[in-house]
Amino acid sequence: MLDAGCGPGFVSTDLAEQGVHVLASDGDQKSLDVLDARRQERGLSNIRAYPACDVLELPEFEPNPTVAYMRWLLCYLGVEKTETLFRNLSRYPGIRLLIHDFINYRSARLVPSSEAVQLVIGGFYREMKDADIGFALPAILERCGFKITWKRIVTLAAAPNDLEWSWPDEFFRLHIPRLKNSEPFSEAFFRDWNLAAENPGAFFCAWPVLQLVAVKR
Ligand SMILES: C[S@@+](CC[C@H](N)C(=O)[O-])C[C@H]1O[C@@H](n2cnc3c(N)ncnc32)[C@H](O)[C@@H]1O
Repeated sequence: MLDAGCGPGFVSTDLAEQGVHVLASDGDQKSLDVLDARRQERGLSNIRAYPACDVLELPEFEPNPTVAYMRWLLCYLGVEKTETLFRNLSRYPGIRLLIHDFINYRSARLVPSSEAVQLVIGGFYREMKDADIGFALPAILERCGFKITWKRIVTLAAAPNDLEWSWPDEFFRLHIPRLKNSEPFSEAFFRDWNLAAENPGAFFCAWPVLQLVAVKR
């Protein structure tokens, strides 16, 4: 299985633990270093990581991957590069694509509503090449000769006392300080977010994700 845009390798290591042979690739060396540490910690010999490079610059795969997994990669590539990637992958007979990416990103919202939270969500939306890439994926797959065999949209509505609250909570705390031009609204964001965290009636409707399985025709 190719894990394209594997990041720190959460999926690569979990699947390798279940016996899957993983080819891991990412453009960011620091993420690959984290993957390597996780691999060593768990004693996994069935993960091979490529040196950091753009996903479109990867060499021919050996052995042929039967599955290419992509979670939250295509939103950084945008339509044109995604199409090139799918065409590159379509060279491998019978390959299956497992895709997990954003769709309708700005529909995410905090209840009770907060203008500052919506501004932050808009800020993250603009940081990605196409945070609504999910809308374009079925047509791109069709053009590249893939047939969609399974699809669904998943979303999360997390209340402050739910375990799932930690996903947006950790995401915002980690990434808002790195978000460009976030100073004007980050204070208001955390005021509203922290108030919501104390409010048992609050909830966060998270960014919807389109999940697709597609097979080469
Ligand atoms: C949001 S992270 C997702 C990581 C991992 N797939 C996961 O779900 O945990 C996006 C990853 O895509 C990588 N990435 C983005 N654009 C890339 C490109 N053009 N070539 C290779 N990797 C890329 C980033 O370095 C980052 O590690």
